[in-house]
Order: sequence, then structure tokens, then C-alpha cells
Amino acid sequence: MTKIYLDHAATTPMRPAVRKRLHQLFGIDGVWANSSSKHSAGAEASAIVEHARSRIAALIEAKTNEIYFTGSATESNNWLLATAREFDLVTAVLSTEHSSLLAPLQLDSRNVLIPVDRDGQIQISALESILQKGTIGLVSVGLVNNEIGTIQDLERVATLCRKHRALLHTDAAQALGHAVVSVEKLGVDYMTLSSHKAGGPKGVAALYARSGSPLRPLLIGGGHERGLRSGTVAVELIDSFALAAESALKTTSLSSLREHLIKRLHALDAMFGLDISINGPSDTNWSSPHIVSLTIPSVHSTTFVEDLNRKGVLCSAGAACKASNPSGAKDNPVLVAMGRDSDRAHHIRLSIGHTTSMSEIDIAIERLEECLIGFGKVARTK
Ligand SMILES: Cc1ncc(COP(=O)(O)O)c(C=O)c1O
Repeated sequence: MTKIYLDHAATTPMRPAVRKRLHQLFGIDGVWANSSSKHSAGAEASAIVEHARSRIAALIEAKTNEIYFTGSATESNNWLLATAREFDLVTAVLSTEHSSLLAPLQLDSRNVLIPVDRDGQIQISALESILQKGTIGLVSVGLVNNEIGTIQDLERVATLCRKHRALLHTDAAQALGHAVVSVEKLGVDYMTLSSHKAGGPKGVAALYARSGSPLRPLLIGGGHERGLRSGTVAVELIDSFALAAESALKTTSLSSLREHLIKRLHALDAMFGLDISINGPSDTNWSSPHIVSLTIPSVHSTTFVEDLNRKGVLCSAGAACKASNPSGAKDNPVLVAMGRDSDRAHHIRLSIGHTTSMSEIDIAIERLEECLIGFGKVARTK
């Protein structure tokens, strides 16, 4: 059975050019050196890291010295909230954010959640009320939601944050290649970036911090990353991350594939009266081209996804890091935050990527139909 991978929001396969480059790097003399070493091999390795730093900075219109490499987007997010605690910045985070922001948010009882509307978009008036209290020092609003694909209007958020003198962070782990990531255009002070969500290797990510914005050392000891994140630098991964990010920004949008997938889902719905909802904004300016979140109220998504996985359609019922949670069958917190009642507080996340083809989508739809027949929800039509 051909496997159809529709879980690119969890991780996307390494781009062929990136894989090739990574293999090359492991074989190039000098690259394996410690980039802090003072000999010529160390200098070579260091030059590669600094070149990658400038390439990533260019992609998001930042300065080179505003990019810090980390081991994961989780680390970048945790680092920022540890900074907020250290600098006594009371923090407001969007209620639909990744757990790597929501979990550390709970460490300070003064921190607050910002509500979203039924499409997962920020309730801007609620943010304004929160900011008017004058206590918030940091706001965090993700650029592209990892479960629904909602894109936030960060320019509006940034205007409000500036007015109320709050710093603004965006988790753009899902955004490379799918949304505008210019820190200048968006008006953000911090940005989280991920390599493996953009077709690069795992084990590397970045945090952008605008010059002058607070940042406390995360790991101390060796003094790497300008004394803020010690630990021998992952030269090969960092270079490959830069290539993946550049490639992601250059590749054509996945929007026609997403449209095709949604059209096929609507057709299935019209044929069988399933009362499917496609979660998130219908306006494609505000929904990422790589994610389709759908809810079929009559079958719980956890069961559905298990069946789809058995039929070779690899997708998920939410964020991958929560998938192994034994409480996975409970209401999905993102959909609850979006105001869904229990019958619709679950979803199937189909996420497409650079390896997805139209024919794979057609096969996935056929298998989805087979699952529905198995569940007794539709009559066999052929
Ligand atoms: C929006 C977002 N932020 C952060 C993360 C954490 O990424 P990682 O698990 O690679 O640290 C993810 C991963 O799913 C994500 O989608």
C-alpha cells in the first residue's frame, strides 16, 4: 500500500538539495571542527555558521547579530518566556499557541491568555483591553497556527503593542514559505523559526531578538552565541537550516493543492451529507496553504485518524507532541479556544508539503471515503 504523508505540519521531509548539502558538509574537511576553535579549521566552521546567520537574517529582514541559533522551536519559545520572567515582563499569549509557550506561561500567575474568534483569529479588542491595564510587557501571537493554519494580522497587533509599549513575539515555526516573515513588515521584536518544519534537519532552530530587546542567557558556560546560548555550535545543521529556509521561501505556494483538497472534501460532504466543517478562515489571505483542519461531527477524529493511518494516510488529530498523550481523545484545546462544543472540538489535520502531489490528495480522499464506509456513515457508491 502506498503511504500518503499528510502530516507536514508535524515535520516535513528534508528537501533533496538540503539532504545533499548535509551529506557534503559531513564530508568536507574543516566543517567538522569546533567553530570556537582558534585554528584554521575552527575559523572555517565559524565562517559557515556566520554565513548561515546572515542568510537567515536576510530572509526575515533582520540584522545578522539579531539571530541566535537554538536546538528547537520549543527551546526558542521557552528561552523567550524565561527572559520574560527574568526581566519581570508580564506576558500575554494567544490561547491557541503551541504548548512550548503555553506551558511556561503558567509559571507566572500574572500572565494571561488572549482569546481568539471562531476562525482562530486574535480578538483584537480583547488584546486592547488587556494592554490598556498597562501591566503587560510582552505579547506573543503566532504567525501561522500549527493545528488550524490560521494566519494572524500581526501588523495590527504590532501597532497596538507599540502604542502600549509592549514587546511583541511571533512563533513563526510553521510560517517559512507559507506567510510573510519580514520582521520589519510584521513589526515584531522576537521571532521563533524552525528548520525541520521548512525541509531542513531536526535539532536546529533560531530565535530572532531585535537589537536592544531583553534576552537573558539560556545556557551558560562556553559563551557561544554571544554569551547567551552556550554549547558547541551545530555547524552542519545550521548551514542546512539556512538552505532549507531559503528554499522554502523560493518554492511555489501550495495553495492550489490545498484548494483541490478542500474542493474534494466539499464534494464528499455534498454527496453524503456529513456536515463537515473546515476550521479556520475561509479567506485564503488568512489561512496557511499547508494546513486543512476538518471536523466530521459524527465520527471522533482520533478514531478516524487511526483508521486513516491504517489505510496508509499518515495524518494527525492535532499537534504531534500531544499525539502520544493518553488524554488525546479529549477535546482539542485549540478548537475549544475557538469556541467549539464537544461534538466539534476534535479535528483531522491534513497538512501538505513540498512532496505532496494532486494524485496523492485524490488517493487520500478515496481512502477517507473508505473509512467513512467502514464507519457506516456513507453508502458505497461504486
Ligand atoms: C508553531 C509551533 N511552535 C513550536 C513548535 C515546537 O517545535 P519543536 O518540537 O521542533 O521544538 C511547533 C511544533 O510542532 C510548532 O508547530
